[in-house]
Order: sequence, then structure tokens, then C-alpha cells
Amino acid sequence: MAISGLLRPAMLAASRSPRLERTVTRMSTTKKLVDRFVAGAAEPNAVAAVETLLNSGRYITVDYLGEDTTDIEQARNTVSHYLALLSLLRASGTGSVGPLEVSLKLSALGQALPKDGHAIARAHAHQICTAAADAGVLVTIDAEDHTTTDSTLSIVRELRADFPSLGTVLQAYLRRTEADCREFSGPGSRIRLCKGAYREPASVAYQSRAEVDQSYLDCLRILMKGDGYPMVATHDPALIEAAGVFATATARKSDDFEFQMLYGIRDAEQRRLVEAEHHVRVYVPYGDQWYGYFMRRLAERPANMAFFLRSLRPGSQH
Ligand code: FDA
Repeated sequence: MAISGLLRPAMLAASRSPRLERTVTRMSTTKKLVDRFVAGAAEPNAVAAVETLLNSGRYITVDYLGEDTTDIEQARNTVSHYLALLSLLRASGTGSVGPLEVSLKLSALGQALPKDGHAIARAHAHQICTAAADAGVLVTIDAEDHTTTDSTLSIVRELRADFPSLGTVLQAYLRRTEADCREFSGPGSRIRLCKGAYREPASVAYQSRAEVDQSYLDCLRILMKGDGYPMVATHDPALIEAAGVFATATARKSDDFEFQMLYGIRDAEQRRLVEAEHHVRVYVPYGDQWYGYFMRRLAERPANMAFFLRSLRPGSQH
């Protein structure tokens, strides 16, 4: 197995370690690499990044970083940040393919609270969806580890009754996702399909790259053939090309699906797709709770990991 195959699970385990979080977030050497993936600490930083992206013809989705909250005050604080963000992000028009969107992690809104977590997260998400609708901004609910999937999808089903344009993320590495794609491929359904970023057991998730890629293709085919709005969230050149082929085969025009990538990753490819008249939405995270998000980005790419590990060496100047 390549070294990256061994390091990835270790990095994903590290992404959930409070002890390592304390160490890594205190290191001044980490900052430069974090800045590549995170748009800054506060709403004005996020809005500045958003304006730059919009001016280049890209769409955006903004995420206030944080996850796995077990503190109700922290969950309420996350809601306040989204409300502040939404009051800055006001769209001039509305619609299901608008340029502005926010992305929410239900675990940041209280889903993991020991008492009534599911109901609290749903109420918080409802509050944010109401403010977003008022501002003409779309909302998509992120996917987290597989233990949350049932709760997340049930909240999405309920919220869609009030907010039909609410989108959600499905992760191709989960064995269940092909069936979820069938359920969520109906009219009005906005589905962001990604590979999946968490460490999952083989009982629920495909483990090899080839199996995950094949599942992504199978899921994407279902979404493209369906009546919803597929959001193709990947940086993988082979999957981007396949999305174009599926779109042509299903007579989808550029307004009928979009590509999505993460802030700081494959910027040139994002611009190339815009030039080719595709919609490209960039996921823009901000906030100071960047540790889990950052570690998952390192785990995805051996070069990022190597750069980071080198920066940990004593005397390193990164
Ligand atoms: P893959 O990892 O195979 O990468 C393909 C190529 O892209 C690489 O060879 C490299 O060139 C480039 N690349 C990829 N990652 C990079 C990195 N970190 N740094 C530099 N280059 C990189 N996951 C999840 O579990 N829940 C979620 O809600 C979301 N949400 C989400 C939204 C959006 C808009 C995107 C694009 C992705 C997510 N993800 C996610 C993350 C997703 O599951 C996955 O981990 C990453 O997108 C990496 O997978 P790729 O499909 O890009 O392929």
C-alpha cells in the first residue's frame, strides 16, 4: 500500500482528536496552509472571498466552520453567525439556481446533543432556512459521518416541505447512496454528490478508490437521468469529464446541473469550466473552528500532507 494509503486513515483519525486539535491550532506554522483552504475568521472575510469569486463568474456556497457540537450555546452561536452572514449576503433575485448559497452541518447546529439533538438541529436549520429564503439565498445541508445520515436525511425531508429548494449532500463512498440517489432524484431535488471525506468502516462504505469512483459514476448517472438538479462536487478530472458526457446523453443544458469545488482547490479548473459556460459553485468555509475541515483536506492529498508534516519539523520556516 502506498504511504498515502496508510497516512489517510491516520489523518482522518487525527481530525477527531481534541488533543491534536489543541496542538495543531496553536502552531503558527499551520496558518499559511490553513489560509489556502479557509477564507478567514469572520463574516467580512467570507464576504470578501465571495465577492472575488462572484466577479470571476463563479457561484458560491458559504460554510461557517464547526461540527460535532455538544454544547447548546455553541449551537446557538453557530445560528447567530449564519444569521449575520445572511444579512450580508442578499441576493438580487431568487430561484433554484441562484448564485448565493449557504451550507450547514447539522452537527454544528446541535444534532449531537445528548438530549433532543435531532429536534434542536432541525429547529436551528429551520431558522436559518427562513432567513435564507428571506435573503434569496439557497441552503444545502452537508453530509457528515454515516452515523448521522438517517437523522440528516429525515430532517431534510421534513424541511423540504417548507423549503422545496433545500439541497443536501450524498456521499458516493456509502453503500446506501445509490438508493438515496433514487429517492432524491425527483423534481426540485438539489443533490450535491461528493465522494465522502470521513473515515468509515467497510460494512457501510466502499474502501478502494476504484469502488468509490464506480459508485460515484453510478450515482451520478441516476441523478442526471432524474428530474432534480445534480450538483457535481468533485475535483476529479475523470468524473468531471463523465458529468459532461452524462449531461449530453440526458439532454441537460448548462442551467440543468452545476459543478462544485472547494475554495483553494483547482482554481484553474474552476475558471476553465466557467469559460466553457458551466455553472461552477465554490464551497467557501470561514471561521476559527477549522481543524476538522483542514485535516480532511490534508488527508485527501499526499502533497498537502507532506507539506504539512514538513512544517512540523523543528526549525521549519513554513
Ligand atoms: P479526489 O480526492 O480523488 O481528488 C481528485 C483530484 O483533485 C486530486 O488528484 C487533486 O488534483 C485534486 N484534489 C482533491 N482534493 C484536494 C485537496 N484537498 N488539495 C488539493 N488538491 C486536491 N465530503 C463529505 O463527506 N461531506 C460533505 O458534505 C462534503 N461537501 C463537499 C462539498 C463540495 C463542494 C466538495 C467539492 C466536496 C465536498 N466534500 C464533502 C468532500 C468530498 O467528499 C471529497 O473528500 C473531496 O472533494 C475530494 O474528493 P474528489 O472528488 O475531489 O476526488
